[in-house]
Amino acid sequence: MIHALPKAELHLHIEGTLEPELMFELAARNNIQLPYHSVEDVRRAYEFSDLQSFLDIYYAGAGVLQTEQDFYDLTWAYLLRCQQDNVVHTEIFFDPQTHTDRGIHFETVIKGIHSALQEGEKKLGITSQIIMCFLRHLSAEAAMQTLEMSRPWHHWMIGVGLDSSEVGHPPEKFKAVFARARHYGLKAVAHAGEEGPADYIWGAIKSLGAERIDHGVRCEDDQQLVNYLVEHQVPLTVCPLSNEKLKVFSHLEDHNLKSMLNKGLLVTVNSDDPAYFGGYVNDNYRAVQSALSLTDDEICQLVKNSFNASFISTELRTGYL
Ligand code: HPA
Ligand code: ZN
Repeated sequence: MIHALPKAELHLHIEGTLEPELMFELAARNNIQLPYHSVEDVRRAYEFSDLQSFLDIYYAGAGVLQTEQDFYDLTWAYLLRCQQDNVVHTEIFFDPQTHTDRGIHFETVIKGIHSALQEGEKKLGITSQIIMCFLRHLSAEAAMQTLEMSRPWHHWMIGVGLDSSEVGHPPEKFKAVFARARHYGLKAVAHAGEEGPADYIWGAIKSLGAERIDHGVRCEDDQQLVNYLVEHQVPLTVCPLSNEKLKVFSHLEDHNLKSMLNKGLLVTVNSDDPAYFGGYVNDNYRAVQSALSLTDDEICQLVKNSFNASFISTELRTGYL
């Protein structure tokens, strides 16, 4: 049933779709020495204790991405997985600073991703949007420079987001950057309430103008916040297998997805960084269906939510629903 339902994915870092096999292929192509001997060796290294322990490995892995063709190949491989999972619309994040800080041009990154997405729409019928994320462990000035650098390609992006190490980097730090991005016509989303407190979700909404919250699972700590999110139907892009691997919840059986859904929150299911967390979007649906005993109606609601929480036009959306 899960496979049969066309769905949208709204929380996906394209750098997080780098499978070890492609990592080795790109390392060979670009003459890069990896600190691993084999694909199995890489997979064995994917044991995380929290968000930071994942981010360290994830940023190192992205080092094999050098050319426009590399970014194209990465994105194309993800789109083929979308086709397998019956994902018909996807809104993907990319982290320009992970690449520009090691000397890769912004243009190289965005052109590779964008051309693969265009091909995906033409050949696979998958519609898509690009969201540019700022790394919150870096300064607000660096984010502002990135926003300015990206101006020639704003017509290829639907919005901006905020990711990386959450605790100690509250949304307020990026208030001016997000105000400028919105002035340029970009939408705003932000990771909040993954490891950080419910207050960061308020901050993302009130200071950044975020229209959608990535993760947001900590919202249940604040009843007033839950009321607000329900009343305004602010979408939460939840990533169950990511939360399990990064120990946001000790066991998937403890995950609050079902509880949030039953409170009327606009929650969706997504894969975050599937190459690192052991599953694409259908694996995430199947895992929560089993761990939380979700009914068929609840699965259908989650799939409907994925379109209602998306930035696709109302006409297209009605076609999917
Ligand atoms: N949280 C924060 N930063 C990230 C994530 C995440 O889940 N995935 C990739 N970068
Ligand atoms: Zn994420």
